[in-house]
Amino acid sequence: MLRHAALIAAVFIALYGPHLVIAWGNDGHQIAAMVADHFLSARARSAIDVLLNPKGKQGTRPLATIADIASWADGVKRPGTCWAWTRNYHYIDTNDDVASYQCSYDDSRDCAYMQCLTGAITFFTSKLSPHCAGSSSRSFGTHRFFIVHFVPEIHQPLHVTSRARGGNDIPVRFDGRATNLHAVWDGKMLLKSLRDRHQTTAERAAELIRHLGNLWVHNLSKWNLEIDLAMTNANGNLVVAAQWAAEANQRGCEAVFPLLDDGAHELNHDYYASAEPMLNFFLAQAGYRLAMWLNNAFECQEVE
Ligand SMILES: *[C@@H]1O[C@H](CO)[C@@H](O)[C@H](O)[C@H]1NC(C)=O
Repeated sequence: MLRHAALIAAVFIALYGPHLVIAWGNDGHQIAAMVADHFLSARARSAIDVLLNPKGKQGTRPLATIADIASWADGVKRPGTCWAWTRNYHYIDTNDDVASYQCSYDDSRDCAYMQCLTGAITFFTSKLSPHCAGSSSRSFGTHRFFIVHFVPEIHQPLHVTSRARGGNDIPVRFDGRATNLHAVWDGKMLLKSLRDRHQTTAERAAELIRHLGNLWVHNLSKWNLEIDLAMTNANGNLVVAAQWAAEANQRGCEAVFPLLDDGAHELNHDYYASAEPMLNFFLAQAGYRLAMWLNNAFECQEVE
């Protein structure tokens, strides 16, 4: 019986293991959330600990952190689930002319009626009750899961462009395999980077946290001033979310697409060598900004 169980388990792992372990996109979200976790204020940390670890379960296992729920929003966007309607909120189809490198993000043009990632960040943030009046743990609800996912998501340049469906329709060769540009930026480049440097996601997060404390400390000093969870534009979207969308969109033209110009679409060592450090910077920035976002949302929360 036991032998059978072991065999079945082995077959199960062989069949399904790779998909469970190497879920594309999960690593980036996890790392950004781990970075964010480091920069949480005492107030935000305490509130989040309570939210993610209901009474009675505390102490029985390591506390769940925001890294554990960072990819939840990807899991629930499948058709047939009650959150399937959120599916189209993971990206922005910009109506710019990225093919001629005229990248631009125009909030009223590209996110009318809040129908895009910028709008989703705005919507779920409004559900956090960031203002002191009426703020409570309960009001944070499921919406925390979306914010933890969507704030980093808007830092992925290929989630903020309509060119070739965010690069999904651009076939490339990367790391010896045929894939597409979107998949490379969503996860394959990070996976190669972790593998080449023999790092776990936690080790990478720790490295990014160190960089934020020295290499990037000047960049970072601006990021905690920009967060205002109440300031919306004429289109109804948060001003800061629209700024980030514009920044990510610009990065497509500056960093992601230009190196493809040779037409061969072989993402060679040169591409990797210039793209991988940028990917790390984007993840670190996404994580830090997520922390500032959550700290802001919880600033009126009672410490428990
Ligand atoms: C970080 O800040 C430095 C100094 O202001 C600047 O030169 C550099 O371009 C910034 N890095 C990024 C990736 O934005």
